[in-house]
Amino acid sequence: MYKILFATSEAHPLIKTGGLGDVAGILPIELARLGLEAGIILPAYPACKTHLKNLKEVARLRLPAALEPVRILKGQLPEGPNPVWLVDSPAHFDRPGNPYLNEQGQDWPDNAARFTTFCRAVATLANSPEFDWQPDLIHCNDWQTGLIPPFLAPLRSRPATLFTIHNLAYQGVFSRQQFDALELPSAWWSPAALEFYNQISFIKGGLVFADWLTTVSPTYAKEILTPEFGCGLDGVLRGRSKRLTGILNGADYQRWDPRHDPFIEKRYDQTCWSHKASNKLALQRRYGLPEDDTLPVLGFVGRLVEQKGIDLILGALPKLLAEKIQVVFLGEGEERHQNALQQLASRYPNQIGVSISYDERLAHGVQAGADIFLMPSRFEPCGLTQLYALRYGTVPIARRTGGLSDTIVDATEKNLRQELATGFTFTESSPSALLTAIQRALACYAQSRQWRRLALTGMAQNFSWQTSAKAYFDLYQQLVSQEFSCKNNVL
Ligand code: ADP
Ligand code: GLC
Repeated sequence: MYKILFATSEAHPLIKTGGLGDVAGILPIELARLGLEAGIILPAYPACKTHLKNLKEVARLRLPAALEPVRILKGQLPEGPNPVWLVDSPAHFDRPGNPYLNEQGQDWPDNAARFTTFCRAVATLANSPEFDWQPDLIHCNDWQTGLIPPFLAPLRSRPATLFTIHNLAYQGVFSRQQFDALELPSAWWSPAALEFYNQISFIKGGLVFADWLTTVSPTYAKEILTPEFGCGLDGVLRGRSKRLTGILNGADYQRWDPRHDPFIEKRYDQTCWSHKASNKLALQRRYGLPEDDTLPVLGFVGRLVEQKGIDLILGALPKLLAEKIQVVFLGEGEERHQNALQQLASRYPNQIGVSISYDERLAHGVQAGADIFLMPSRFEPCGLTQLYALRYGTVPIARRTGGLSDTIVDATEKNLRQELATGFTFTESSPSALLTAIQRALACYAQSRQWRRLALTGMAQNFSWQTSAKAYFDLYQQLVSQEFSCKNNVL
């Protein structure tokens, strides 16, 4: 059987800042269920070292531009059979907090060096005779792994490479000066390689040199070929569109299902739907809001950044608050959004609850306790929170984009009649379009039988990982059985 090495900068439960952590925490486990040997490699952040017991040093690598040798530690996923390797370079990864940001929420100033070391270590290890687990394919994820394909591309005998775009908006772009300090091949500084408007782009390394590209939904796979969603890279992607596929993420129903969620007040399923009300009361208590299970509660869980359309919600709130509703927020991100939310919460203490934090337990509490899940994203490569919301009978209101288009069926009259509807979608990126969608939802909420039917249809949807893992399995199979030569003669 093939060996697949999954290179990622986060994986639940070791370390997580967003959806990539969820994906990397479950996809390798599902791949192992399909019979593949699927290992994971990630940087040795302190949290990873704490979670993984009995770590053993299996290799020591001397890398260019690094003063100390890098240690490779081996452990095993706590909840799966998968081996995990950590790239231990204390100068780069042994620091508190977020993998990408310092305590002030700014990018770590040495991110270029940190993730160059990570990529160099993965590429070196994969070809090192010292390593007794030679992968047939390296599955790279997002810009933090973007240098792995160009490091490997020129080698005669090497693993195949797959690069998955989870979010094209985060590109890992750094200055010429940083490029020079990293001692990377000078040929990389070319528009046909990693140069990007006089800077170096890590994600471009993956996009240009990986043997195959995927992204996390079929709609986003099409959107990123256009200037509107291409973030300046749509031309590069159009050039590779024959080797780009969209594979929809799944939801990990072991962790995200109200039938057995240990984090929620009261468990429920379609047959005891009324238990959801206890979760609503618990949520209202948690946020210090008046407890009233007849009020519609709208919830938001996500990064407080423009992508998620948080400003659209802020724009719609003044008019929305005229309605008898409550809105709860869980998120952290840009300071201006955090401040705006906190101000609103103090002005409307009976209607708005805000938690500026990263709180895994509360994320489950919002999914279980809210009636409506707000996700007005400007763009959304896949989105996992709407999948969780569906399973919790929390009806999503979302913009019709990316993975949201692929997973939510709008509650038009016809779709409602045919019991296909699962949420409310809208097109224009504006507070008023969002407001209209929310008002449609509130009108439906007032008709409790119809609402219940809508929520139960959502709960019955199945976005399990099995289907997505099988699609990756088939793609790996195709890639490892092909001979890839480096077509791009830049390197
Ligand atoms: P993205 O990866 O763009 O942030 P996704 O919807 O794919 O969006 O995944 C977000 C993941 O991060 C979900 O598991 C969600 O519950 C979680 N999450 C986001 N913000 C928070 C937060 N403040 N506290 C806890 N979990 C969060
Ligand atoms: C990214 C995207 C999100 C996607 C996640 C996992 O963070 O923003 O839409 O669900 O990656 O693929």
